[in-house]
Amino acid sequence: MFFFFSCFLGFWCFKLSVSLHVGSNVPNTFDDANDTLLQSSSFTKEHLDFLKNETKDLFYHAWNSYMTHGFPHDEVLPISCQPYGPNGNINDINRNDVLGNFSITLLDNLDTFVILDDFENFNRSIHLVKQYIKNFDLDSTIQVFEVSIRALGGLLSAHLYASNRKRGFQIDNYDGFLLNLAYDLGKRLLPAFNTNTGIPYPRINLRSGIKNIPKKLLIETCTAGAGSPILEMTLLSKLTGDPIFEQVSKLAFLSLWESRTDINLLPMSLDPMKGVWLDSISGIGASIDSFYEYALKGAILFNDDELMSIWDQSYNALTIHLKRDWFFSNVDSNTGFYLTSWIDSLSGFFPGLQVLDGKLNDAIRLHTMYLKLWNTFGGIPERWNYFNDENEQFNGPDYQIALEWYPLRPEFIESSYYLYRSTRDPIYLQIGTRVLKDFKERFKVRCGFATIKDVRNGLKEDRMESFVMSETLKYLYLLFDDENDINKDNSNIIFSTEAHPLWLDNKFINSLKESLKNSSFDGINYRKLQFFETISDKYQNVKQLQNDYKKNLTKMIGFISTSDDNDNNKTVNKRLEECEISPFSGSDNGIYSNMLGWNDLFDIDLRFGEQLKQPNYLKRIGYGSIELEKNFYDRWSSNDYYCKRDYNTDFVEYLFGKKESIKNSQVSIIDEPEIENIISILRDGDFWIPKLDGVRMKVEKLSAGRVDSENRIIKTQMINDFYQSLEISTEEEEPRTRYDNGICLLDEDPKILKIRTVNGIKVPHDSVVWIDSSNLFELGLLLSLTKKGYLKINSNPVVNMMVWENA
Ligand SMILES: *[C@@H]1O[C@H](CO)[C@@H](O)[C@H](O)[C@H]1NC(C)=O
Ligand SMILES: *[C@@H]1O[C@H](CO)[C@@H](O)[C@H](O)[C@H]1NC(C)=O
Ligand SMILES: *[C@@H]1O[C@H](CO)[C@@H](O)[C@H](O)[C@H]1NC(C)=O
Ligand SMILES: *[C@@H]1O[C@H](CO)[C@@H](O)[C@H](O)[C@H]1NC(C)=O
Ligand SMILES: *[C@@H]1O[C@H](CO)[C@@H](O)[C@H](O)[C@H]1NC(C)=O
Ligand SMILES: *[C@@H]1O[C@H](CO)[C@@H](O)[C@H](O)[C@H]1NC(C)=O
Ligand SMILES: *[C@@H]1O[C@H](CO)[C@@H](O)[C@H](O)[C@H]1NC(C)=O
Repeated sequence: MFFFFSCFLGFWCFKLSVSLHVGSNVPNTFDDANDTLLQSSSFTKEHLDFLKNETKDLFYHAWNSYMTHGFPHDEVLPISCQPYGPNGNINDINRNDVLGNFSITLLDNLDTFVILDDFENFNRSIHLVKQYIKNFDLDSTIQVFEVSIRALGGLLSAHLYASNRKRGFQIDNYDGFLLNLAYDLGKRLLPAFNTNTGIPYPRINLRSGIKNIPKKLLIETCTAGAGSPILEMTLLSKLTGDPIFEQVSKLAFLSLWESRTDINLLPMSLDPMKGVWLDSISGIGASIDSFYEYALKGAILFNDDELMSIWDQSYNALTIHLKRDWFFSNVDSNTGFYLTSWIDSLSGFFPGLQVLDGKLNDAIRLHTMYLKLWNTFGGIPERWNYFNDENEQFNGPDYQIALEWYPLRPEFIESSYYLYRSTRDPIYLQIGTRVLKDFKERFKVRCGFATIKDVRNGLKEDRMESFVMSETLKYLYLLFDDENDINKDNSNIIFSTEAHPLWLDNKFINSLKESLKNSSFDGINYRKLQFFETISDKYQNVKQLQNDYKKNLTKMIGFISTSDDNDNNKTVNKRLEECEISPFSGSDNGIYSNMLGWNDLFDIDLRFGEQLKQPNYLKRIGYGSIELEKNFYDRWSSNDYYCKRDYNTDFVEYLFGKKESIKNSQVSIIDEPEIENIISILRDGDFWIPKLDGVRMKVEKLSAGRVDSENRIIKTQMINDFYQSLEISTEEEEPRTRYDNGICLLDEDPKILKIRTVNGIKVPHDSVVWIDSSNLFELGLLLSLTKKGYLKINSNPVVNMMVWENA
């Protein structure tokens, strides 16, 4: 086993089959299971049943502990078996933002019993709510966002099930008290929205509003926190008939959107009284995640075209400006220049959202990044550094981890669930099996499951947040339970960001639309926030570059970013001619067979190997790579294993155009040529770029002796042939220049450029990127044209970019 994964963490590798057939110390799947059955299974119905039952057992282990040792307090401490709740110290926000002394674990898990098909406990829990929670008149200062998604969402979901005959969980003589409680809670959250801007304060006291809350706890709201109440609050309005919740939450959401930057991105935090943004950073993870999530889910749930359009525009902007090969990075929301060297655990939900929007290829690729993180750390670190930025403070032995804890968050499992539902690729069941095993063997403690305090050493912390049961275990169960009602449901039911199933009948929505026509709703004017750029000292360096960059934008193209791909000091692999067969070539069984190339599966290990070093404590227990586990491969492949070569080419990123044009950038991938006179030359899969303005491209430099990202060795002959075909001699060319952060360098070797992504979209191997000839006049010196219609950037010819002369 050791050889087996050391291979994929280094920069070159053995032929896998050698180590695979050595030794038989494959980890047992579960101690109390029939190993023969489990290890030889191809996820038969019986096997899935077993996994489902195991997950259920895990849930009840935690639930029963909570009921015995925690209830009616908010949580149970999993190691010490003590109840846990707020501590009355208003400044201890880590603890008290979520814990309001209202049995949050109970409220968050009412609908979990529906998913587990356990009517008895559903009924029992709902009666407990009735008995213990009369209202929310509590002296608790809590976070509006957390309480909306956990408590309000939990109550609404339970109410929908309890009152709806169709889904089989209706409670006899149910009088709607859950909705009444939700209404009471909603009204107590309302004062938070009473700001100058309509953007809510982050916190509220359920009894006394904001008046006793220290100012410092009110002046910063995050984008996710301000935008997200829209889903639960709008539903509350629709179910109660009181429009106020929808009005205030939609106002907040639309104000945020109105305040986006020129390139359609949102910063992450703002001051709700002054109406200014407090930073310039944009991303898809912590502090902003559910803004995007609820744009799409709100569109689905409420049949809302406006939200759909916000999602579409956002997704486009995120793809253009944040998307790297394997993840979305945090960037400056004005320029798209990247700002941090990390991604966070919360961003792992995004592939699930992409699935929901039908963007399957994107989802599969992005999810792979989180899979690699789980392989390496046995969980997802709160923040992982994808490269070692000298400006950051994380240098030293711990440089790969920026924030080290893993509180058993659901996002990776959630995305795996969505991906399994849409692809039926067994790799996602394989992932679930590993996560289940980790829950049983690594996270389980006497009274539940313990937060991993530090993924580098596996130390535990005595805390189990309510989402461990209500989301992580729920999604894991749903992954294995093919027959679950919700998996067969084709209506507009969605999971909230806290995994509460919510729905609205379409008939009901249409009648509401009619009635809204006359409400005061349309009269709301959202207010645009001011952009207030406060880049900390940490980013001064970046800021300087941004300024240079902005100046140059008026002169059109020519920005070269220090991209995350700049790791170009790898030595050429000596074993270049080794094995090349994918085990899944010709297989129809899934396992990334169609969507993600076998090459791609190892690209992350090679590219980010330095940042993906497995902690020793996991090495000692033989913690291997999920996607490479022997039994899985024995079942699902027949061929020999493949050996991926490392590539060592350089990449460069260009952003073309004037600033004001960036927002409207257009790229179309051609499926049906729209313009008649280009039919003759444009093929399916080519790219057509009418205006280069605002287009962002990642370009690979191919020079002789290197291995490219398509795993080919670049031969001198190939370069010369291409130059010759262009009728240029490699010798006669003027010295080629390259700009690196403002410094002009001479290139020694003749190079060919190949475009790899356009606005974040991967350019397939044999596609051509066509640009309209009108671009040439505007673009000045850096772009020129060869006789054969190929383009040159900085005098280097591009093999897959050509000009269409519109004669
Ligand atoms: C496990 O299951 C296999 C196949 O069903 C059976 O042959 C074997 O005897 C079982 N082993 C144990 C220990 O129950
Ligand atoms: C799963 O649990 C159900 C209900 O307890 C039981 O009938 C079934 O046999 C179990 N299946 C497996 C494979 O353990
Ligand atoms: C929580 O509620 C209980 C009563 O249910 C009360 O005794 C206790 O003081 C409350 N704790 C806090 C911190 O408010
Ligand atoms: C639901 O729970 C209540 C209270 O525990 C009990 O009286 C009632 O019989 C239960 N209903 C069903 C259908 O089990
Ligand atoms: C809307 O309001 C107008 C004027 O108040 C009234 O005439 C009309 O009937 C109302 N329409 C609906 C659908 O309630
Ligand atoms: C490349 O790697 C070698 C050997 O590890 C090292 O000595 C050299 O400084 C590196 N060069 C750059 C530019 O990082
Ligand atoms: C901006 O343009 C000048 C010359 O036109 C160049 O020297 C400089 O490197 C450019 N800056 C950036 C960041 O590209």
